[in-house]
Amino acid sequence: MNAEGRSRLDQLPEWTALGKHREQLGKVHLRELFERDPGRAERYTLQVGELHLDYSKHLVTDETLRLLGELATAAGVAELRDAMFRGEKINITEQRSVLHTALRAPGSAVIKSDGENVTPAVQSVLTKMGTFADRVRSGDWKGHTGKRIKTVVNIGIGGSDLGPAMAFEALRAYTHRDMQFRFVSNVDGADLHEAVRDLDPAETLFIIASKTFTTIETITNATSARDWLLSGLGAEGGAAVAQHFVALSTNAEKVTEFGINPDNMFEFWDWVGGRYSFDSAIGLSLMVAIGHERFREMLAGFHLVDEHFCSAPLHENAPLLLGLLGIWYGNFWDAQSHAVLPYSHYLSKFTAYLQQLDMESNGKSVDREGHRVTWQTGPVVWGTPGTNGQHAYYQLLHQGTKLIPADLLGFAEPVADLQPGLVPQHDLLMANLFAQGQALAFGKTPDEVRAEGVAEELVPHKTFPGNRPTTTILAKELSPSVLGQLIALYEHKVFVQGAVWNIDSFDQWGVELGKVLAKRVEPALTDGAEVPGLDASTAGLVAKYRALRGR
Ligand code: F6P
Repeated sequence: MNAEGRSRLDQLPEWTALGKHREQLGKVHLRELFERDPGRAERYTLQVGELHLDYSKHLVTDETLRLLGELATAAGVAELRDAMFRGEKINITEQRSVLHTALRAPGSAVIKSDGENVTPAVQSVLTKMGTFADRVRSGDWKGHTGKRIKTVVNIGIGGSDLGPAMAFEALRAYTHRDMQFRFVSNVDGADLHEAVRDLDPAETLFIIASKTFTTIETITNATSARDWLLSGLGAEGGAAVAQHFVALSTNAEKVTEFGINPDNMFEFWDWVGGRYSFDSAIGLSLMVAIGHERFREMLAGFHLVDEHFCSAPLHENAPLLLGLLGIWYGNFWDAQSHAVLPYSHYLSKFTAYLQQLDMESNGKSVDREGHRVTWQTGPVVWGTPGTNGQHAYYQLLHQGTKLIPADLLGFAEPVADLQPGLVPQHDLLMANLFAQGQALAFGKTPDEVRAEGVAEELVPHKTFPGNRPTTTILAKELSPSVLGQLIALYEHKVFVQGAVWNIDSFDQWGVELGKVLAKRVEPALTDGAEVPGLDASTAGLVAKYRALRGR
């Protein structure tokens, strides 16, 4: 037993039972599972809101699902979920509530953090965002010289960039097409340079997105953007900054110090984790792009899945199932990674967004009590839009030696404003999605290859072993609500896995060391300052860098 009264995960009888079950399944093949069980595809299909999920192409039986469900119960997933929704401080290392779900709850909800109902503040910020978004969209909000704003540049990094940038891309068809939206994150000056080089400062609005307002990349870029703006406008600061800079943050003091009018700050709270924040004020750039009504539709989509997660029974609970399937492969099949393969160009940044959500949450190796875990935790999450991937890395998915479970995502309808001439391409896109799920699962046997008259020496090369598991997620269209549903689905899937692995999914101490070392090394690059205790390899690289820069 540990401090919280729970046995270590790998000592739970439910864990051992899953291990035995895995041994019994041996080299089970999806072909066989489908042959043996004609009702499987229908039974292993779920509808959550507008999301249709087919998880029949997984290496599971009813028994597997039963045992995984028992593991979730033994691990206390439901209890931790309820504690999260109640506002308890389940982020134990930072002693914080985890209440991103309050950001999309109805205005009438009562959700408390530290005894205070957070809903009124959430609604008031949403209203303030809506008024601001309307003013920018309509041209009522003017720049310093009286011109209307044509381009919005969001400056932020991590959760203050990936969410809005991904969602802007996903919902492009719903955006104000006469405006431009750009996202700057990298401290590499090239990022800001390329984002602003063709812009008129008089028509540009910067949104500085940073929960802490201390993140070096963001503050450096924001400072450079302010210099660019003021020199472009020939202005001094003050009024010009007020018309061209707004902030999204929890840190009013730092925002004011930077010179942004606190009236132009959109607040959120420390109970919203960075990677869970794009439905907070951090989504302001998206709200300007799609308008506040669409933004609210997206929030309703999130909320729908929140409710499903809290109420659906074990075997109909999509986030729970997806989380447990990941545990099945990661802990019992030795899978190291998970591919997310959207068959939608608009989801081109979706997997990058999920990388932070999943890997920053569950890339941990000590449990909630600080013991080193003896089980695998979060997978490497990767992937790009499907058809492009097919001509790049799918070879390894099909015939490589690694088991890589994958999610295939697609939509029945192309976006509403697609040129009519391009609409027929949509069937071809979706045919690829369905074909890949089929090929990955069922492969092609040596006999099938021979039957095509292939020379015997080529048979092994042209054989597809199959047995590669996938989940297919299908919706009618990629609307704001569907995007909200998808994100909430993945958020809660990550939650389930962290709960079973007994890790704190809501801190991110692993990003700190690099930040500290970069600060220490920078003076060595710039002025050749001595860095005490620098290792020989890094010292050599610093010296080489300085020599190459002629210093
Ligand atoms: O360094 C990691 C991180 O703290 C992320 O968790 C966060 O999303 C990102 O940096 C940006 O932080 P901030 O919004 O405070 O600038």
